[in-house]
Amino acid sequence: MFLSREEAFGLLSQFGSPLYVYSEDILRARCRELCCAFSGRIRPSFSIKANSNAALLRIIREEGIGADAVSCGEIFILEYAGFDSSEIFFIPNNASEEELRFAVGRNILVSADSLSQLETLGRIKKGARVSLRINPGIGAGHCDKVVTAGHATKFGIEPALCTEAKKIIKAFGLKLEGVNQHIGSLFLEPGPYVEAAEALLSIVLEHFPGLCFVDFGGGFGVPYKKSEHRLDFAALRDGLFPLMDSFAARYDNKGISFKCEPGRYIAAECGLLLGSVNAVKECFGRRYVGTDLGFNVLMRPVLYDSWHEVQLIKKEDDGCASAPLADITGNICESGDIIAAERPVGNAQIGDIIAVENAGAYGYSMASNYNSRLRPAEVLKTSGGEFRLIRAADTLQSLTASF
Ligand code: LLP
Repeated sequence: MFLSREEAFGLLSQFGSPLYVYSEDILRARCRELCCAFSGRIRPSFSIKANSNAALLRIIREEGIGADAVSCGEIFILEYAGFDSSEIFFIPNNASEEELRFAVGRNILVSADSLSQLETLGRIKKGARVSLRINPGIGAGHCDKVVTAGHATKFGIEPALCTEAKKIIKAFGLKLEGVNQHIGSLFLEPGPYVEAAEALLSIVLEHFPGLCFVDFGGGFGVPYKKSEHRLDFAALRDGLFPLMDSFAARYDNKGISFKCEPGRYIAAECGLLLGSVNAVKECFGRRYVGTDLGFNVLMRPVLYDSWHEVQLIKKEDDGCASAPLADITGNICESGDIIAAERPVGNAQIGDIIAVENAGAYGYSMASNYNSRLRPAEVLKTSGGEFRLIRAADTLQSLTASF
């Protein structure tokens, strides 16, 4: 944890509870690690659905990383954070014509996720630059909901439709700049990513000469459980580089570049979610630690059964070495509102803090106002050790502002 006990209590009293806190040092370290991971041969582009706080995006851009957007809102935020259209790649799914026009009008490269989206792009602008999202038939991910390639997913264009795609490209004079794929989110073994990259490269060789780039997608996992191992980038390199070498030897454009689209790997580990213990109780023999960490604040445990390590930060040290197990619950009116079950925090008391680790990706970005609760503030711990408010918490007024 990158916060001391004193800092954690100080932050909650200054900025309110709950609170997202990010470490600039860890964010920069992850960016640098990814930029080096593939020796510059596969360049990362940050998938901002994982975290779209403008202050973090500015840091990521400073580290020389571009960005992928999935909505006009994300494009708008990226522009606000200083990204140029040439640094943004729009990878929407089932976008409206209006949304596609928004990106094309800004000269942002758009990925077509289906033949019908490709046609819409052609109708919007003859000769537009496009990319095709291919579904290589191989998927991976921490649960079915986030596996985004394979035979049972709404994403991408199947290889058998590439000939049809080429006809549409020709009919509208579109300029196919690249192909992209994303097999799913959170894998810790390199196998499926490498296999899918191989499939994509052979599709490119067969169908698409003259491309500027191939984008293998994101999905690089982080160890949410202490017992899990880190993703082995050397193994990924060992799998990918020979494929890229043999591809390059046979491909017409020797200057083709390679990209990847990590979201979680860049943002997860720099984020900590702090919440307060508001109540403790036992009910029919089960112990509960009741906090303000409802699933409106962090949805992952409820939505995907995801595991996050948690730490109890005691207001007063009780010298308790091993505490009984308890469920850490939130304040939302659903019994599924459990952020972490059966953890050794049964000695928690009102006023203590629960710190949830690896909350930087798909934490705030999936937060909501369910139960008309206020989304928390976000604070950055800068490399100089200062704490800077980078997003204010919602207010009661913001709840009624759009009526
Ligand atoms: N590219 C595309 C087209 C994507 O759809 C995604 C994530 C990424 C890249 C980045 O994937 P990452 O490197 O972050 O795994 N809310 C879920 C994850 C959903 C991911 C959606 N797409 C979670 O909290 O686990």
